[in-house]
Amino acid sequence: MSAQQAVAAVVVLAAGQGTRMRSATPKVLHELGGRSMLGHVLAAAAPLGAGETLVVVGSGREAVEEHLAAVAPGARAVVQAEQLGSGHAARVALDAVPDLEGAVLVVNGDAPLLRQRTLTELARAHVEAGSVFTVLTAEVEDPTGLGRIVRDAEGAPRAIVEERDATPEQRAVREVNAGVYVANAGTLRRVLAGLATDNAQGEQYLTDALAPLVEGGAPVAAVRAEDPADVLGCNDRRELAARRRTLNDRVLDDLMRSGVTVVDPATTWVDVTAAVAPDALLEPGVQLRGTTSVAAGAVVGPDSTLVDTTVEEGAAVVRSHVLGAVVGPRASVGPFSYLRPGTRLAADAKVGAFVETKNAEVGEGSKVPHLSYVGDATIGRGANIGAATVFVNYDGVAKHRTTIGDEVRIGSDTMLVAPVTVGDGAYTAAGSVITQDVPPGAMGVARAAQRNVAGWVRRRRPGSAAARAAAAAEGAAGQQGPADAETGAGADSRAGSAANSEQ
Ligand code: UD1
Ligand code: CA
Repeated sequence: MSAQQAVAAVVVLAAGQGTRMRSATPKVLHELGGRSMLGHVLAAAAPLGAGETLVVVGSGREAVEEHLAAVAPGARAVVQAEQLGSGHAARVALDAVPDLEGAVLVVNGDAPLLRQRTLTELARAHVEAGSVFTVLTAEVEDPTGLGRIVRDAEGAPRAIVEERDATPEQRAVREVNAGVYVANAGTLRRVLAGLATDNAQGEQYLTDALAPLVEGGAPVAAVRAEDPADVLGCNDRRELAARRRTLNDRVLDDLMRSGVTVVDPATTWVDVTAAVAPDALLEPGVQLRGTTSVAAGAVVGPDSTLVDTTVEEGAAVVRSHVLGAVVGPRASVGPFSYLRPGTRLAADAKVGAFVETKNAEVGEGSKVPHLSYVGDATIGRGANIGAATVFVNYDGVAKHRTTIGDEVRIGSDTMLVAPVTVGDGAYTAAGSVITQDVPPGAMGVARAAQRNVAGWVRRRRPGSAAARAAAAAEGAAGQQGPADAETGAGADSRAGSAANSEQ
């Protein structure tokens, strides 16, 4: 039987409060590696192809339902109004599908490291053993807090005993219940209906389903997980950090095996949803989040966070924060820049140091080398945006767009007051406030002309170091400037030479 046919339904138990997290957020919504705990469990179960996926919700129900609608619209939320225990939760789920027959996978919602393979193997073992109830187990170093698997002299499973209800001998057992079960729907319905609450917590334990089946002579099985790490639950923030680390190690191991260089695995964090191609290089302190992808030959880091961003072949991102951007082939970003959603750098483009961009297209080979804000802009190819240029996109009410043509040279400290267009091959003079379109090939100059007040230091700062330096310079030049003259420097003649901070 194929894995696809192995289970008719998946039931995820996610109604518990998760008290030990001490959080306003329901436990199963806590995030690690780019998904919620619940999201990880659903992702591991999805390939089983069950006809029904039921998620039992209760504590923080609205938030969990909203999350489900976003990440697993095919799953159905079933409400457990009162949290009367894991057995009761499973029962509520089965009540929602009264006609369901065949095998059901029941899984705790707080097991984020579960892998598809582990679930497939469990389902296969269940079928092969002809079992009616199969529990996944693990041998762990420290079984504290977990349900123990009690086996008889022949090694057959007899019961699952919660730690609080266990005898000292049972507590010494290191084989624990993973909180993952495959059971025949009819059998499970019947046995859950008869669950008692005579335990330390006064709850209906799903784990109490096993012993009565054994006593009734039904075929049951307990299957050890290949990797105990797969089945570790997550009950508090320390465990969350530990699971996150394990998950990240797995992601990085896979990447390194596939040919990605990870310089420092300890400080590199890659979501399970991100993709990195062979021969990409991740420097220390990198986070790749969401749907980020990094192509071959690209270098990211050190110290960069990329969210939902595409980095194409041979590109480089250094010490920057990049959200929802596309960094084209061989383009470069940073150090110390902030790229916001809608930023698209074409091939060989450059966004250098201390630059912020948003909704900005930077054309092929164009450069924004230093200290600029580029918001709501289209920049053609081969353009250079001088240092400290601001794309003034906001008039206090609405945002407007700026269009810069091909091979444009924007002078340093230009304010481009949108909406405005600078034509192909045009220049702007440094320090200009450009409020009108600049036609192709023109020099846009929009600043006050300079005037020099000769002798001002001698008269107004007599005896100062500046006055001595000025006097020495005048003496050396063998000339005395006109006592009180002012000279104006033509803006036109100097505009071009001071315009650019081109690299
Ligand atoms: C449970 C198992 C334990 C196992 C461990 C593995 C029981 C009684 N014990 O313990 O044997 O070793 O998982 O991690 O099942 N839930 C509901 N409704 C409820 C109560 C719980 O939906 O009324 C859900 C929780 O959200 C959780 C799961 O059931 O996802 C297990 O509950 P939890 O309280 O975490 O059980 P553990 O003490 O961890
Ligand atoms: Ca748990």
